[in-house]
Amino acid sequence: MGKFVAVAKVQDIPDDESICVRVEGEHIAIFNVHGKYYAISDMCAHAGGPISQGWVSDMRVTCPWHGWQFELDPEHDPEDGMRRYPVKVEGDDILIEVDG
Ligand code: FES
Repeated sequence: MGKFVAVAKVQDIPDDESICVRVEGEHIAIFNVHGKYYAISDMCAHAGGPISQGWVSDMRVTCPWHGWQFELDPEHDPEDGMRRYPVKVEGDDILIEVDG
């Protein structure tokens, strides 16, 4: 069972922007897509590109290095080698669920 940890404040990620956070040794990209937050590994499954510097269209993020695309929505979690993390907001804290 995982635990939720606070990784950022909502004001840290303006609408349609993203940041990279480090949680328990993992680099994780957090995206704000029209006010909803999504968390996915920051290391591209292709060759380790910085997913947090990618761009989002139709709920897919495009890696800035070679253009691989990944779904952000954990409901559509495909087997593409990328880990997605449940996200919730409490007050102005953004929390993601990591391994407990
Ligand atoms: S490192 Fe992401 S597409 Fe190549």
